[in-house]
Amino acid sequence: MKKVSFLMFAMVVSLLLIMTACGKEKEVTTTSEKEESNGKTLRIVTDAAYAPFEYLEGDKVVGFDVDFINAVAKEAGYKVKVEHVGWDPIFVEIESKRADIGISAITVNDERKQSYDFSVPYFLSTNKILVPEKSDIKSGKELKGKVIAVQTATTGQEAVESLLGKNHKDIKKFENNNLAIQELLQGGAEAVVADNTVVEEYVKNNPDQKLKVVEDSSSFDQEFYGLMFPKGSELKADFDKAVNAIYENGKYAEIYKEWFGTEPDVETLKA
Ligand code: ARG
Repeated sequence: MKKVSFLMFAMVVSLLLIMTACGKEKEVTTTSEKEESNGKTLRIVTDAAYAPFEYLEGDKVVGFDVDFINAVAKEAGYKVKVEHVGWDPIFVEIESKRADIGISAITVNDERKQSYDFSVPYFLSTNKILVPEKSDIKSGKELKGKVIAVQTATTGQEAVESLLGKNHKDIKKFENNNLAIQELLQGGAEAVVADNTVVEEYVKNNPDQKLKVVEDSSSFDQEFYGLMFPKGSELKADFDKAVNAIYENGKYAEIYKEWFGTEPDVETLKA
């Protein structure tokens, strides 16, 4: 009798083992076909000091760009991991092909296009001026004679240089945009020039700092953000297709609304 119940017990245990093994197999097969044929996770690099596009929450990179790249990669059938490396290192990592994609509110321009490939546009931006509420600066021209803080090697730096002259002594350059804003708050600069969404969000989220944003469309051009790839990257075609797909299926609008509370102008991005 004892032997029989032991046998029964052993059978039940092995049955349970087989069932869990089957369950696991099911889990594996839920990954997309591409992941199976190419299980590698793409390395995405960013400068997580540019809220709301990318910033650190603890040691986690979060922001619109992170949600966007996750949605695009999912659509394209790739696994991705976003890593904070800093602004200048993004360009080094991509050029040397140590990373697969850079995403960091990166403006597509002719100079960068010589060394990198870019996806189709995914965000419309322009530089704006961040100043104390009581500042009398009302335009780009009025930056002349003032001390301006910018993030090094950004279109903000370029724009200020074209207004004040290259290597002007009154342009203070910082490794990241938060340091440029700190300089303004401490009185070491009279203005920061950076992407509109970033400075607008900063003012909105920090009312006690008493700052405002000055807009001047005659001094600052329209810019488009793109995903940045090493030259000749085979990923570009898949990711372009996926960006267009999430424009069409509403996923882009969903993410955009979560971060900005308004409807995106997808038609301008697609044009
Ligand atoms: N759009 C500007 C540029 O491409 C600034 C981007 C800065 N991004 C960042 N994550 N710090 O030059």
